[in-house]
Amino acid sequence: MTPEPLEGWLAARRSEVDAALARLLPDRGVPERLAEAMRYSVLAGGKRLRPMLVLAAAEAVGVRSGLDQRQVHTVALPAACAIELIHTYSLVHDDLPAMDNDTLRRGRPTAHVAYGEGTAILSGDALLAEAFILLARDPQPSEVRPWLDEPELSRRKLQAITLVAEAAGAAGMVGGQAIDLAAAEPGAAPLDERSLGEMHARKTGALLRASALVGGVLAGGTPDMLSAIGTYGAQLGLAFQIVDDILDVEGASAVLGKTAGKDAAAGKPTYPALLGLDESRRRADTCVGEALEALRSAALEGQLPAIARWVVARTH
Ligand code: IPE
Ligand code: IPE
Ligand code: MG
Ligand code: MG
Ligand code: MG
Repeated sequence: MTPEPLEGWLAARRSEVDAALARLLPDRGVPERLAEAMRYSVLAGGKRLRPMLVLAAAEAVGVRSGLDQRQVHTVALPAACAIELIHTYSLVHDDLPAMDNDTLRRGRPTAHVAYGEGTAILSGDALLAEAFILLARDPQPSEVRPWLDEPELSRRKLQAITLVAEAAGAAGMVGGQAIDLAAAEPGAAPLDERSLGEMHARKTGALLRASALVGGVLAGGTPDMLSAIGTYGAQLGLAFQIVDDILDVEGASAVLGKTAGKDAAAGKPTYPALLGLDESRRRADTCVGEALEALRSAALEGQLPAIARWVVARTH
């Protein structure tokens, strides 16, 4: 079956995710300024790529495991939101003066510019914790009865929590950020291509891979499907960060919603710095080719292929 065009699919899913995020972010029972800072960064928009991957993978698997669209969303929407909270926390911390020292994000002043460093740091900490509340709590067994029993729901949630924690932690995103920081120190040895690829795989690829995998897990994917989705997510993740590096060189701040040209100025290790723009593009295209091949091998369809193509065609 031919899937609906990506643009309309994305628009519909984004508004669902945005509405769910607005509903799920805490307001009562949380210090007001902290709650405001959390909402400020999360509700500033962004492409919502990670939630889109969760939902697209869940839909692709759901079709195969006999779930309808409503069931897929019931089981996967909380995780889609949780991963967006983790991603947003990572941006808030990435922008801090001690990290990339950026003042513009998602078209607005960065969190520390708007709320001060202390509150920005705490809002990131809180978003990370909030994400795990969501993953552990939602959906509740009553929401998925009778089509998913409670032990199976708990098993899938636990697997999702493990995947997300591993991707976000010291061996994943935080580890990648640590490599990024160390490599931009004055006098640091330049990264070779293998180390650069590893840094990108960790700092960006890990959470993108986990997004797709979590969607697949929650919708009841088989080991074969999950293996293909893992390869897809890892390849898409690397392509995504290569394109992020390219856009930092070629893009305009007004379109990106963040300040362009910062990587070279800060001496960051990037694909364009190591290989040049043309070769970087080729690498990103190769990754997408591999991502598509993995999907074909497991006969997974829906929006996942179109999302991979969008990742390299995007302008922001
Ligand atoms: C930016 O991520 C940070 C990276 C991991 C490269 P996105 O480009 O997905 O940022 P938003 O969510 O659209 O703002
Ligand atoms: C950020 O990479 C990766 C994470 C936030 C984990 P970048 O530093 O390249 O992201 P941008 O360019 O500031 O969005
Ligand atoms: Mg950074
Ligand atoms: Mg940055
Ligand atoms: Mg960047």
